[in-house]
Amino acid sequence: MGKYIKIIEVGPRDGLQNEPIETTASWKVELIDHLSTTGMKHIEVGSFVSPKRVPQMAGSAKVFKGIKRKHGTSYAALVPNLKGLHLALEAGASEVAVFISATEGFSRSNLNCTIAESLEKVTEIIAIADHAKCPVRGYISCITHCPFDGQVNPLHVSSLCERLLDTGCYEISLGDTIGKASANDISALLDAVCTKIPVENLAGHFHDTNNNALANVAASLAYGIRSFDASIAGLGGCPFAPGAPGNLDTGKLVGFLEREGFETGINEQLLAKAEAFANKTIRQESLQTPE
Ligand code: HMG
Ligand code: MG
Repeated sequence: MGKYIKIIEVGPRDGLQNEPIETTASWKVELIDHLSTTGMKHIEVGSFVSPKRVPQMAGSAKVFKGIKRKHGTSYAALVPNLKGLHLALEAGASEVAVFISATEGFSRSNLNCTIAESLEKVTEIIAIADHAKCPVRGYISCITHCPFDGQVNPLHVSSLCERLLDTGCYEISLGDTIGKASANDISALLDAVCTKIPVENLAGHFHDTNNNALANVAASLAYGIRSFDASIAGLGGCPFAPGAPGNLDTGKLVGFLEREGFETGINEQLLAKAEAFANKTIRQESLQTPE
């Protein structure tokens, strides 16, 4: 089994979309430029969604325009529909990410449509994205627990993974959206999913609301998953758990993986600088630039 772990930095999108502090496009550009220097190869820059629903992402086109792109690094955009895809392509996104929910309650709340309708939108997006030679990654939210519908059946998630893969997503990111999954929940889910989907096509996206994310990464590693989403400085929070930490902190993940003998290709000192930059504005911490 490989030792290299692919890290997808989602802080500029999943992190900042949930932070109450408003940040400018030029600040986001600076943050992403810091992240690009660390050696990370995958950065989710922003999203093209309704600005009324997620005002924090309204300036994503400007952010794409301002960033200094590193050769070999993918700069992704999250899109909910064809309008989002067209905006992402216009902005020069290297790839796009689509998102569906495993539950009807969260699908309605997040996308204002049913799961079946969201799958139709994904099909439309992939048809055009393929034509534009733009790779598409897929997220499934609420893989074990939903704030509206409760516990989720692993077999249902497994069949949605198959649908997304068959439709043309190259990777499925399994989202513990509210950070409620335990390592046992993740193992039960992967027992179902890994019988249908090659592990090479799976990623873990664990929110750290209850400090379970690393245990869930460890459980996923045992199944052979080698791709994880994380957010610089743990940016994010969760609207359902005020004051709780948000996405899995990239520094925490990289430190853990390196200690466990995995390789990420990410320079921890440069990552700490990016973290300090984020914390200075978001957490109002004094900027202590590491040596
Ligand atoms: P809708 O209200 O059902 O209907 O939105 P609509 O399609 O008629 O659009 C309403 C308005 O939004 C219209 O503007 C559209 O033009 C505009 P108005 O006429 O009212 O002025 N609009 C757009 N504007 C910019 N870009 C677009 C776009 N589409 C429509 N692409 C819609 C449906 C899906 C658009 C809306 O519900 C929406 O934007 N939802 C996205 C919510 C979101 O971004 N959630 C967070 C990301 S998902 C996530 O965080 C989970 C994840 O991290 C994994 C995990 O943790 O589990 C990925
Ligand atoms: Mg998320």
